[in-house]
This record gives sequence, structure tokens and C-alpha cells, in this order.
Amino acid sequence: MKPRHYLHFGEFSRAEYEYLLERTRWIKAQFKQYKPYHPLADRTLAMIFEKQSTRTRLSFEAGMHQLGGSAIFLSTRDTQLGRGEPVEDMAQVVSRMVDIVMIRTFEQDILVRFASVSRVPVINGLSNEYHPCQVMGDIFTFSEHRGAITGKTVAWIGDSNNVCNSWMKAAAIFDFKLNVSTPPGYEVEAERAGNYGKQYVEYFADPMDAARGADLVTTDVWTSMGFEAENAERLRDFSDWQVDADMMKLAGANALFMHCLPAHRGEEVSAEVIDGPQSVVWDEAENRLHTQKALMEFLLLGRIE
Ligand code: CP
Ligand code: NVA
Repeated sequence: MKPRHYLHFGEFSRAEYEYLLERTRWIKAQFKQYKPYHPLADRTLAMIFEKQSTRTRLSFEAGMHQLGGSAIFLSTRDTQLGRGEPVEDMAQVVSRMVDIVMIRTFEQDILVRFASVSRVPVINGLSNEYHPCQVMGDIFTFSEHRGAITGKTVAWIGDSNNVCNSWMKAAAIFDFKLNVSTPPGYEVEAERAGNYGKQYVEYFADPMDAARGADLVTTDVWTSMGFEAENAERLRDFSDWQVDADMMKLAGANALFMHCLPAHRGEEVSAEVIDGPQSVVWDEAENRLHTQKALMEFLLLGRIE
């Protein structure tokens, strides 16, 4: 039987996500009560990193350990992948030795190629194109603070990057509205933008208009990993796309602020906002752990009824 993978946010149906969110609540409660839960005893997770990480590595490694299994960290620097071994050969070997794989890489195609020959589930831990685990954690975090995200409005301010692309997919699955505002020249690619109706994704030239009345305002770094050569140019081009107190005021007192982190205070977000009362960034970071435990359990064991 072919394994199921999680390469982008569109891999699961709404019903499957509802199950995963429910499961996350239960798994998180066990953790908070110091109750051991080891459904993945003797299972091994391989984590392959071609880019740096704090949260993703920590949450997957700690999460696998807490579920009774173990995790192995591999990076391009110290594996044969860094010396040109074909991705498909690596996938054949890795997937005969471990039970599940998480990959953080550049092109989405690397994940697709790995998964095409993998005997075990493959999870996208961030690519240039997508960061589905982040948005799953964010939606869980929203639900903890404000209930279901369906019918709500989320404002994405800044770069049309991997996290933004995952939010767009999520809007169509969870049926909420995503207001997107990017600087000129950094718009969502036309091909991708064309996939969503205006009831799911709407574009705004002015970030203030995107934020007005939103239930959640979220942003990310102006320069994602792999785009460092464009940093000076981006600092200039994005200067009006900072989430600050004036923007949060337009969203309203009940609006939440999220950021996947790491953040640059004074660039995409002011210190006042990220360290202020509307910010839930630490819950958001913590929930990566709980949602990904539910994800690994689901990919390996299916539904636990
Ligand atoms: N948000 C996130 O994925 O963080 P890391 O890059 O630290 O893993
Ligand atoms: N968009 C950012 C997310 C980091 C977690 C990046 O790709 O660098």
C-alpha cells in the first residue's frame, strides 16, 4: 500500500483536519498533565534539513520522543545528499530504515521526488513553496483563542511566500477569507492566484485595507531563507508593509496577531505588536509540537477512534 504524505496543505480534507485538530487537543492535554502517551514506540523519524531551523527541528524531535519513538537529524552538510547523491536514491535508503520522514528543503520538487519512491510517509517541514505544518499549528492556535476559523477573516501582510501559499490553500479548505497585501513586484504568482475565488483570497494594494476588520493579522520575514541576496532591495520595497499598532487598531481590539517566527522587530512587525497583548506567537510556536504529534500519529496509525 502506498503511504500517505503531507507535502502541502491540500493533502487533507476538511474532515481530516477537523479530526487532526480534535486529536491535537487531546494530545496536548495529555502532555500538559504529564501523562505518558507512547503510540509510536520503536518508530523512528528521519529529519532531513537543507535549511536552518529552530522550531521545526525541536518540535518534530521532541514530539517523536514524547510519542515513544526516536528522531534522527540529517543535514545536507553531513550526508551524501550534499555531495550530489540523487534524491530518489536517498529516499530508497532512508525509507527502508525509518518509519517516517520530515524534510526541509528548497524546491518543492525535491519533496515530490523523495515521496514518489519513499516507502514511508513524507512530511514537508518547509520548502520555498509551502510550509503546511506552520499553518496547521496556526489554525489550531486560532481555534484555542477564538473558536473555529471558518467564516473569519485573516490578513496576510508582506511577502507572498511559502507560509502565504499555505494560508491560501487553507482558506479554501476551511472556508475563511484571506486578505493578501504584498508590495508591488512581490505579488502572488498569477498562476497560483487564479486557483482561488474572491470568497477565499482577496488582494489589496494597501496593507491597511487588508487588515481592516480582520480577526487575525499575520506576517512573516521580508526575506525568506534562500533569498538573502535580495535583502537590501527587500528592506526598501517592504518598508510600508510593517504590522504596527495603527494597523492592529484597524483590525480591531479583538484581532489576534501571529508570526511563524523567527521575527525581525522593526521590519515586518513592530516590537509593540509582537510583544503586545494581541500577539499569540508563543502559543503558535508551542502548538507546532502538538499539531505535528497528531500529524505523525495520523500518518502512521490512521484514525484513533
Ligand atoms: N516557524 C518555523 O518553522 O521556525 P524554524 O525555521 O525555526 O523551524
Ligand atoms: N518564510 C520563512 C519562514 C521561516 C520559518 C522562510 O522561508 O525563511
